[in-house]
Amino acid sequence: IKVQDYRPQSFIDFTQPENVKAYQDALKKVRAELVGKHYPVVIDGVAVETAEKIESRNPCDTAELVGTTGKATTQDAQKALDGAWKAFESWKKWDMDARARVLLKAAAILKRRRLEACALMSIEVGKNYAEADVEVAEAIDFLEYYARSAMKYAGFGSSETTWFEGEENGLMSIPLGVGVSISPWNFPCAIYLGMLAAPIVAGNCVIAKPAEDAGLIAGFVTEIMYEAGLPAGVLQFLPGVGKEVGEFLTTHAKTRFVTFTGSRAVGLHINEVAAKVQPGQKWLKRVIMELGGKDAMIVDETADLDVAITAAVQGAFGFNGQKCSAMSRLVVVDEVYDAVVNGFVERTRALKMGTGEENANVTAVVNQMSFDKVKSYLDLAPQEGTVLLGGQAPGEYGGTSGYYVQPTIVGDVKRDARMAQEEIFGPVVTVLRARDWQDALDIANSTEYGLTGGVCSRSRERLEQARAEFEVGNLYFNRKITGAIVGVQPFGGYNMSGTDSKAGGPDYLANFMQLKTVTERW
Ligand code: SER
Repeated sequence: IKVQDYRPQSFIDFTQPENVKAYQDALKKVRAELVGKHYPVVIDGVAVETAEKIESRNPCDTAELVGTTGKATTQDAQKALDGAWKAFESWKKWDMDARARVLLKAAAILKRRRLEACALMSIEVGKNYAEADVEVAEAIDFLEYYARSAMKYAGFGSSETTWFEGEENGLMSIPLGVGVSISPWNFPCAIYLGMLAAPIVAGNCVIAKPAEDAGLIAGFVTEIMYEAGLPAGVLQFLPGVGKEVGEFLTTHAKTRFVTFTGSRAVGLHINEVAAKVQPGQKWLKRVIMELGGKDAMIVDETADLDVAITAAVQGAFGFNGQKCSAMSRLVVVDEVYDAVVNGFVERTRALKMGTGEENANVTAVVNQMSFDKVKSYLDLAPQEGTVLLGGQAPGEYGGTSGYYVQPTIVGDVKRDARMAQEEIFGPVVTVLRARDWQDALDIANSTEYGLTGGVCSRSRERLEQARAEFEVGNLYFNRKITGAIVGVQPFGGYNMSGTDSKAGGPDYLANFMQLKTVTERW
């Protein structure tokens, strides 16, 4: 296949009025054409009616039903699994080029419908324009990137082996079979698509279980994958409840791999049940996980404080802190603590609260469960530190009820406090005071997570020390710690943050393939 080199999508500039206008037109189009839509379960290319439906609500206006998806039962999950294994028999024989073309075609369609996908997420999960745009760009990037990286695994001898006289030796990469992909609501377009496109291009078949809170955008991009020409059964669309179909599929003897992005608690459970061999099971299930984070950014006394404060605000409050990569701990060296914290508070105070559709800086958190969880940490905050900003969860904005939480900054939190150790997943930042640089690095590393981290410093020596000693999968210097770009910053963490499988990285497809060594004596 002949394609130009991979280049990430550029982002839309919303300081330009014509781009804002285009976004608002897309919101109108989505309201007219997609809001209220029902996306059914799809098995073997056929829509399946389910007795129950899952409702998706607008978090910024909880009275609004955005749409519905089917709600698969375990019988549906069994059918999806059987059908996917049938589809696998032919899909695995397709040329890598041909499989890659499906992704490239899907990328082309999504490029054309980019603003619709964005607008749908503004309504369904409360993303503002830039957050939605960056995400759809990432979704397109995943398709474009994995299509190209598939080429590396095509054909016999694609991986290097050493020459041995009198024999032909070589490695071939072959797909695993049928897996289940369980994706999160916080990147319901990009991560959903990336987690299914990678195994599919490698020749596997996937049962995709989208997050209950974001089924519409998942249905929207699934239709694009079908439109791009995926044969029936290769991608089974199985919206359902995690505890029911998720549990059924991750436990099942015929599931070959599980790819999951979500919370540590659910991830650990999946890891455990997937490890248990079921009667009739022939393999060790492969489990690929992206879990939580308690991500820290250090600011030392040599830093450009303006750069540091901008990085802190962006990293902490982008999509209301609902990112596993979000800066939830700001670790500041004592000498500049007051200057950094004052600046951080002032800049955060200027953030505007409102809806995703209004393009507010801070919108509502995704659902009641998140709201209650974040609120419980706001209740804890005065005991564990000093609330410097926010601290309330009004649960409404402008007279409309939604899961609104004020951006909150809590100062002088101790390194072992619950708020400094547990993932909150909302617009809440704990600030920790470090004696000096070394103490700051120790604080940053004093967590069981290891996803993203950052250092704002002008000291070359310290940046080099952090490069070696900061225990995270994604480390950023003198910028925000969120917003990894496909192919540019392969993404994935250590320790309780997951299997470090590096989504958007050069070897990601290898997670979904096994190698066969073949030797012929001449
Ligand atoms: N990849 C996202 C980021 O870097 C998080 O999932 O922010």
